[in-house]
Amino acid sequence: MKKINIGLIGFGTVGSGVVKILRDKKALISSKIGLEINIKRICDKDLSAKRNVAVDKALFTKDAMDVINDHQIDIVVELIGGINPAKEYISEAIKKGKSIVTANKALLSQYGRELFTLAIDKQKSIYFEASVGGGIPIIKAVREGLVANNFSGVFGIVNGTSNFILSQMSETDCSFKEALLEAQKNGYAEKDPSLDINGADSAHKLALLVYLCYGRWVGIEDIYTEGISHISSLDVNFANELGFEIKLLAIAKKEGDELEVRVHPTLIPKSHLLASVDGINNAIYVESDLAGDLLFYGPGAGQLTAASAVVSDLVDLSQGIKAGLFRPTLNIVEDRSIKKLRKIDDFESRYYIRFSAVDKPGVLAKISGILAKFGISIASVTQKEKSRAQEVPIVMIVHNAKEKNLRKALGIIDKFNVIREKAVAIRMEEA
Ligand SMILES: NC(=O)c1ccc[n+]([C@@H]2O[C@H](COP(=O)([O-])OP(=O)(O)OC[C@H]3O[C@@H](n4cnc5c(N)ncnc54)[C@H](OP(=O)(O)O)[C@@H]3O)[C@@H](O)[C@H]2O)c1
Repeated sequence: MKKINIGLIGFGTVGSGVVKILRDKKALISSKIGLEINIKRICDKDLSAKRNVAVDKALFTKDAMDVINDHQIDIVVELIGGINPAKEYISEAIKKGKSIVTANKALLSQYGRELFTLAIDKQKSIYFEASVGGGIPIIKAVREGLVANNFSGVFGIVNGTSNFILSQMSETDCSFKEALLEAQKNGYAEKDPSLDINGADSAHKLALLVYLCYGRWVGIEDIYTEGISHISSLDVNFANELGFEIKLLAIAKKEGDELEVRVHPTLIPKSHLLASVDGINNAIYVESDLAGDLLFYGPGAGQLTAASAVVSDLVDLSQGIKAGLFRPTLNIVEDRSIKKLRKIDDFESRYYIRFSAVDKPGVLAKISGILAKFGISIASVTQKEKSRAQEVPIVMIVHNAKEKNLRKALGIIDKFNVIREKAVAIRMEEA
């Protein structure tokens, strides 16, 4: 049986999961693909740390160049994460004639264009299934399963930490802080959870989904990104009463010749499939012209979950190498009908808005007067019981409004002396 040699850089959570799967499922994989995937070298900074898989120590090295310079290695698996030195390792490995498997969304979202250009130039491939949605085979599905489709929209719950926090707030009526603590207690949030809760991790994954669906690299700076730390239990509860869930969505939407790319908390109707995606689960909802609307759902992180996706990439690449193909799967092709990225100012949506106002006659009229001045029409309004002292929450749903106009209107309303707190505005997506 032909042997494909791989070298692993990064023997941490996912790396040791990959080794475990390749060892435990060796016979199954070989019998399915008619090849042996052989781990030739393993590199990690700290080889003394305890892992849940036993490996022959002779494979170990602390120097990544031992993997990159090994002529017998066909595929380098980068699982150290971060930008540097991962970028240098991947570039060097490609220059040395190796194909790459990585789960590094932070790196690819920033330097994907450069690294993929280098790989094409050297007739090598970069596979990255584990970088979006953990074990969910979304990348293969979009690239191969949906090859003849055009996509009008992609809506992803792609950060398990944020989804756990928002689900916890919705189910137990707790505050953001309490939900975050619970996530940390359960190992679902890092000690420093910034990248997860500020939307950056979702933006990294959205950049990769946009590349897959529209063949275009968008910079992280082009993705409007807003996190979830300002979401209060009050808003989660009001949204629930109105028939909505709040989810952190990564959205790419094509309208005419424009593409919107954004990550932000979003009200979605409880009847939508994405509304029932709870806890640490991820889901990617794809609107395609031929296959229709599809939902890909499952755990978005975890050792074996992510490692399962890495192994799937290894199998694809190994089969390509065996067949002597430069590209075992299909090219990603740019959608040239997209002429520009829509700026957030020009974006239109329905909004949920909560004002905290003094309980006095005429307040509602003052607020609606300003909204009307900016062409924003109210779909529904609910004045709640007093929550504190003389304050009442006023909850509105407004019809489609331009972001720019809404910001201007709220800027004026926030300065009224009857207003106690800055208004909260959350965008809405329909089913
Ligand atoms: N964990 C998941 O569920 C998951 C899911 C999907 C994708 N991913 C992605 O998978 C990648 C790996 O994540 P992970 O969770 O496995 O991380 P991890 O547990 O921190 O493992 C990374 C390993 O690489 C080692 N390392 C760091 N820099 C190195 C270097 N320069 N040379 C050699 N070894 C080095 C680390 O050693 P030290 O600990 O000593 O620094 C650590 O053992 C990341 O890109 C991540 O975003 C992870």
